Amino acid sequence: MAYKISVIIGSLRRGSYARKIAHNVLGLFPEGFEPEIVEIRDLPLYDFDYDDPEVTDKETPAEYTAFREKLKASDGVFFVTAENNRTIPACLKNAIDIGSKPNSDVAWKDLPVGIISHSVGRMGGYSSQKNLRLALSYFGVTSPGQPEVFLGQSPTLLDEDGRFNNEKTRDFVADYVSRFADVVKEHTPRK
Ligand SMILES: Cc1cc2nc3c(=O)[nH]c(=O)nc-3n(C[C@H](O)[C@H](O)[C@H](O)COP(=O)(O)O)c2cc1C
Repeated sequence: MAYKISVIIGSLRRGSYARKIAHNVLGLFPEGFEPEIVEIRDLPLYDFDYDDPEVTDKETPAEYTAFREKLKASDGVFFVTAENNRTIPACLKNAIDIGSKPNSDVAWKDLPVGIISHSVGRMGGYSSQKNLRLALSYFGVTSPGQPEVFLGQSPTLLDEDGRFNNEKTRDFVADYVSRFADVVKEHTPRK
């Protein structure tokens, strides 16, 4: 059975570079992996009332349940995110909060995670990635070590079809995806 990987994009913008980078990432997974983009656009804003057993007149949205089930059926999650105001975009924080409840069944718990941040500026979404790691650290996730991937001036790394336009970037990202795949296999050696 193939390893199922949910790929989550931290940007809702139609022309998002994060989405373009994510499409490159899909093609870099080794055999035996099934990466799939999981959309977060339609997740309603997180409201704990939906998960609070004491609030009985607000049903958990179907989108929350589907998202949580998708994460729990995944062997790992791979994030490609932009940076907004030195942290993660709100859509991504919303998705993290939704996956973090209920406490008895946290969808993120112990998952292997991969992270690529990018920015049109030079810093490659450094603060975004660090803030994402901070939020995820609460759930005991595991991820590849050094080197981390911060893609600065991301538009210059992509051709007009959205593909990496140079070997150096492609190889660097491919190495990270390969190390992430190893973390997933180590975490779930049964397959
Ligand atoms: C609300 C907002 C805040 C932003 N804040 C940052 C920032 O803190 N750091 C940064 O490098 N770029 C920032 N940018 C620029 C983004 O890097 C740029 O818009 C990028 O294209 C977003 O990623 P995407 O193409 O995947 O949507 C910001 C853009 C917006 C719209």
